[in-house]
Amino acid sequence: MYTPAITGTGVFTPTDVVTNAELVTAFNAYADKWNDEHADEIAAGSVEAMQHSSEEFIFKASGIENRYVMDKTGILDPEVMHPLLRQRDDDEPGLMTEMAVDAAEKALAQADRKAGDIDAVICAASNHERAYPAVAIEVQDALGIVGFAFDMNVACSSATFGLQAAADMIRSGSIRSALVVNPEICTAHLEWRDRDCHFIFGDVATAVVLERAEDAKGTHFEVLSTRCATKFSNNIRNNNGFLRRSRPAGMEDRRDMQFMQNGRKVFKEVLPMVSQHITDHMTDEGVGSADLKRLWLHQANKTMNDFIGKKVLGREPEAGEQPNILQDYANTSSAGSIIAFSKYSDDLTEGDLGLICSFGAGYSVGSVIVRRHS
Ligand code: COA
Repeated sequence: MYTPAITGTGVFTPTDVVTNAELVTAFNAYADKWNDEHADEIAAGSVEAMQHSSEEFIFKASGIENRYVMDKTGILDPEVMHPLLRQRDDDEPGLMTEMAVDAAEKALAQADRKAGDIDAVICAASNHERAYPAVAIEVQDALGIVGFAFDMNVACSSATFGLQAAADMIRSGSIRSALVVNPEICTAHLEWRDRDCHFIFGDVATAVVLERAEDAKGTHFEVLSTRCATKFSNNIRNNNGFLRRSRPAGMEDRRDMQFMQNGRKVFKEVLPMVSQHITDHMTDEGVGSADLKRLWLHQANKTMNDFIGKKVLGREPEAGEQPNILQDYANTSSAGSIIAFSKYSDDLTEGDLGLICSFGAGYSVGSVIVRRHS
């Protein structure tokens, strides 16, 4: 068995930023327009008027202040209320590929590796741009990687499940190195007309290079252990899929074809599941809370992360121990914990231990315990 290690990470960040203030202005204009159009039904009591959203609520309920997006014009246009993304020719690189390649190039540079050194590509994300060919194979082709590639989807947990898949292949010797990319265009599956969730998501792409630890050219994070778990739940669901046109009313503008969640239930059910998962994983690996220098958690909600950090460490996390990036990026699904890891891991020193954890729809949770080597 070989020891896998993370030798490089990269983040692609879109240039468009949407603030809570901009978002709320657009939403409220849409709500006013909708209420005008449905004034008679509202007056008759057959439909409920849409209520305004609020900046204060969004920040207090989630901790989110801004989000990066691939297109803000459509999102902020009350006549559109979704991103407007150019239709690409089949011969052009797909949008997810373009984002993933940018992040991958940064990760390869950090690992001091060329694309030719990589044996496999995994595109682990919540949504894939098309059914096939796999986005991962397009990324492989764009970078000139020989070997194989495949897509996988475990919603917000995709990144850690992808890391486990890659680490296991390196451990067994079937590959020497892998690139795991997480391009997330969450704004395209978000229902911007629903005030309960319109503030939740942003877009980003992350990439991680994994190799045999013995091949690492510089500072790296040895992957000590990975653990994944799932438990079926309908509380986060998206019914869009290839059977859509075969079903009555399948092609209509239906709410369930976008991200749907029962946020309160998710909060209540996922928190204990994740806290227990991390605690058990650490206990089984002989890692005590005092040994852990950093927690890089999934970035969905600040209160949620505060709770998990406190449960896992057995005390209030100190500043910097459990870095959040969701105030700037919002929830970027599988990429969130990898952004936090990429931006807040340089300062760790030889032997320091940390834990990456992502969780979400499924339900699903994945954790990766790493040790820093200079
Ligand atoms: N602006 C103003 N008020 C709003 C609002 C908005 N944008 N959205 C909802 N509200 C109102 C609600 O209507 C509700 O009003 P009521 O009390 O009169 O019924 C009130 O604010 C509270 O809403 P609720 O949905 O219970 O808020 P919350 O505190 O649970 O926060 C989430 C909502 C989504 C931020 C929170 O539940 C959450 O983060 N859950 C977990 C999400 C998660 O991790 N998902 C994983 C996705 S990958």
